Amino acid sequence: MALVSGAGGVGEPREQRGMHTAFDLSFAHTEGRWARPGSWVGASFPDVRIYQEIARTAERAGVDLLFFGDGSGIPDTWRGSMDAAVEWGIQWPRHDMSPVVTSMAAVTEHIGFGLTYSSTFQHPFTVARLLNSLDHVSRGRIAFNVVASARGADAANYGFDERMDHDERYDRMAEFMAVCRALWASVPASAIVADRSTGRFADPSQVHPIDHVGRYFSVKGPLASMPSPQGQPVLVQAGNSPKGIATSAEFVELVFGFGGSVEGKRRHRAALDAALVAAGRASAVDTVGILWATQALVGRSAREAAERRDEVAAFWNPEAVGAFLSHNVGFDFSTLPTRFTVGELVAEVQRVNGAQGGFVGSLAASLGASASLSRQELFEHGWQHATGLDHTLCGTAASVADALEADFEATGSRGGYMFASPLAAPSGFGDLAELLVPELRRRGALAPRYAGATLRENLGLEGGDGVAG
Ligand SMILES: Cc1cc2nc3c(=O)[nH]c(=O)nc-3n(C[C@H](O)[C@H](O)[C@H](O)COP(=O)(O)O)c2cc1C
Repeated sequence: MALVSGAGGVGEPREQRGMHTAFDLSFAHTEGRWARPGSWVGASFPDVRIYQEIARTAERAGVDLLFFGDGSGIPDTWRGSMDAAVEWGIQWPRHDMSPVVTSMAAVTEHIGFGLTYSSTFQHPFTVARLLNSLDHVSRGRIAFNVVASARGADAANYGFDERMDHDERYDRMAEFMAVCRALWASVPASAIVADRSTGRFADPSQVHPIDHVGRYFSVKGPLASMPSPQGQPVLVQAGNSPKGIATSAEFVELVFGFGGSVEGKRRHRAALDAALVAAGRASAVDTVGILWATQALVGRSAREAAERRDEVAAFWNPEAVGAFLSHNVGFDFSTLPTRFTVGELVAEVQRVNGAQGGFVGSLAASLGASASLSRQELFEHGWQHATGLDHTLCGTAASVADALEADFEATGSRGGYMFASPLAAPSGFGDLAELLVPELRRRGALAPRYAGATLRENLGLEGGDGVAG
């Protein structure tokens, strides 16, 4: 195996590992995908049979993780109305996918499942308890993506009439995760005695309340649950602002990274490595991978891929783009003046506590704060971002695999790719599973296929806080 030097100036030379792969199923049915060629006929979202089929196909290919983001509100930031999102099916409908995960777990053996819950709106006891149960049902295949939600439509469903301040959302996340981890560790595996001869069930000296009293939560504990196969789910975090990275460095085991340019990914990797060291987790620099959000579209020929790409472009109209962007950034782009600088846009997004990474962050990184834009130019960038076609890897399995191998080496060689598909389900993910993933495996580019019994082991991670020993 090759040795490569560590990223971010903090690493010793380390062994290069293969890529991990995940499918992001959050939006397998929205933004017009449901109507594209190759969509299911006779079954539609949220029919579990669709998801079971995707799970079986992805497991045959050896994909590590199927992932669901989450959001509870219909986008309503654009023009202060949900009409455009409702009309064009932008990021809705969305369900709580945890029951769907149980149905997928029942028809598979190895593949992992990532679920997203918001530390801004949820209570940690509910989430810790649910994820423990799901880890049992899936026999140790659950990951938890914790998000500090920026979206106004979500906030309004949980009694917030305005979004919580950006940095405060992360203070709440820090406390939320401390509570969850303490709960998962409150009944260690070694506490369960289960002695049939005496009927003695568990050792009380090992089962403790957590007695947490903090700024946001008061939780007595313990979690009155059996310790789960992984002890705790694999902990994932996605926010990529400096505060988001610093907060997650305390606990994160796998990062869901906003894709973007190689330079942007390198910066993110370096910031994460530095934050892990600052949090006293220097050894985690090697084990915490970043799965880069990557939209991919593969065809049996370059021509087929290009034709399918055109199907995607045909769907998006200005109202759909506006609804998509405004929701994800948390800023109403319809209010922009006719001309402005990127710096002014960033300041406005900060003022309304919107997402400073993602679209706006990558615009600032690529154009610079002093660049001047017209509304029309901004919407052209926005169209590229919403369709994803500016950064979609599109081509044959061989050409997309070439691009991924080069990107992986250039961006830290830890983690891999979270693939989204702009095509209809199941055909888009089916092509990724049947063409792209086998091509990567044939080249020896992937991490070993399901090397362990749990998702944590398959990702090469150590035991979580709650795992005995
Ligand atoms: C790759 C990626 C995936 C995300 N997925 C979700 C999600 O599923 N639900 C959600 O509410 N927020 C999601 N977010 C938003 C983040 O949780 C966070 O609110 C946003 O990135 C702003 O925080 P930041 O300024 O630290 O980046 C995601 C962000 C990124 C970069």
